[in-house]
Amino acid sequence: MNEKYEVSLFPFQQEVFDHKARFKIVAAGRRTGKSYLACVLAYHHALEKPNRRAILIGPTVSMIRESMWTTLKSLVAPQHMSGLPREIDLEIRFVNGSKISLKGFDRPDALRGISPSPSYIVLDEFAFIKQHAFTEVVLPMTSDPVRKASVLIISTPKGVSNDFYNLFCKGQEPNELWKSWQFTAANVRPDMAEEIELARSTLDLLTFQQEYAATFNTSGDSVFYNFNRELHVSDNLLPFDAHEDIHISIDFNVKIMAASVWAHRGDQLHCLDEFYGSADTTSLIRKIKKAYPNRSIIVYPDASGNARKSSAATGTTDFSLLRKADFKIRARNKQPRIIDSVNCVNSLLQDAAGNCRVYFNKHKCTRTIASMEQTAWKPGQTAGMDAAIIDKSKNNEHFSDGVRYICEMLYPISRDKPTVIRDRSWSF
Ligand SMILES: Nc1ncnc2c1ncn2[C@@H]1O[C@H](COP(=O)(O)OP(=O)(O)O)[C@@H](O)[C@H]1O
Ligand SMILES: [Mg+2]
Repeated sequence: MNEKYEVSLFPFQQEVFDHKARFKIVAAGRRTGKSYLACVLAYHHALEKPNRRAILIGPTVSMIRESMWTTLKSLVAPQHMSGLPREIDLEIRFVNGSKISLKGFDRPDALRGISPSPSYIVLDEFAFIKQHAFTEVVLPMTSDPVRKASVLIISTPKGVSNDFYNLFCKGQEPNELWKSWQFTAANVRPDMAEEIELARSTLDLLTFQQEYAATFNTSGDSVFYNFNRELHVSDNLLPFDAHEDIHISIDFNVKIMAASVWAHRGDQLHCLDEFYGSADTTSLIRKIKKAYPNRSIIVYPDASGNARKSSAATGTTDFSLLRKADFKIRARNKQPRIIDSVNCVNSLLQDAAGNCRVYFNKHKCTRTIASMEQTAWKPGQTAGMDAAIIDKSKNNEHFSDGVRYICEMLYPISRDKPTVIRDRSWSF
């Protein structure tokens, strides 16, 4: 099977093609070439070794046929095929014994007990596949230790409360197994400029961003509506230098203990690290001291930590533990109104002139970033209401609570300062 086949890929497709991760996740705009890339990868996989089995799965059989079948048939060279493409089974057999088949999640039975188990799995338009399909159907298929199947997950995004978003976030963490990419149509397909402009002028902004810029739009209930991965997430932030103070926002919550680590630079806040999962305040303190020995550490905890007893012993509170550890504490006696701290964060994220003053390290602060995106108002008590309440039912607000504490402490908004009333006499 050494005959060459010529396929040309766009640079973004090549980057995904070349990467060594076993689980790859690609969020990209509509018609950028996701399905095409998947066909090329499956084809390459089938040719590389004999008796391989690739399955390409879409939300339904008819959707996967629509997006892949014609492309696949036109890609595969006749000399590689054993017989004709099988239109009924949507399957191509190779002379080396490998096979590529198309399947749909609308027929889950067809996905069970595939034998031999697949060695390559593509999930197309994954955000439109039913929830839990990945853990319940796909992961078990990858567990055959001999086959060690690789997985490619591709889709345009659809909000932040689904498996596609969660797996995308997993691929942003530094690890060998998972890797995710987000590609904007305008960046990776300059040849599509005309089509993109047409879409921009016909779609509303949020739909356009989702469909073409592949953004994970948060719902209308999103608390930090000014947060935008493209603007605020960076892999370019400088690490702490030897003399910088270490600022840490903390939300006390047993076993979660969400803490984000910040540098305060000029009038900007750079989130450079995070801690998660300590059993209690004492073990979080231990972790911080180990990561940042002999540094000046300033913490921004939840005001309630002053009262909350951390142990039954003589009135020990979270605050007294932090003080004993030689951390400086900056917290209010009483937490400001939620809406005030939220407004403060949103204006630091982006003010009316478009300036951003808060940034997050792309690989080290994945939980803080996800929390910024996912934190939502409680249904019925949303933005615009004085009594707006953050939805705590999904447990995704812990890190963003900390972000509120530090932003509000360092950059309080009007309430505590004299309000400047502009002279509007010139106005009509
Ligand atoms: N590397 C490539 N070479 C040639 N044609 C491509 C390439 N990538 C994508 N295309 C073409 O671009 C169009 C859109 O690609 P497709 O994979 O269906 O997009 P998506 O799945 O992202 O919506 C298709 O007609 C496809 O054949
Ligand atoms: Mg497609």
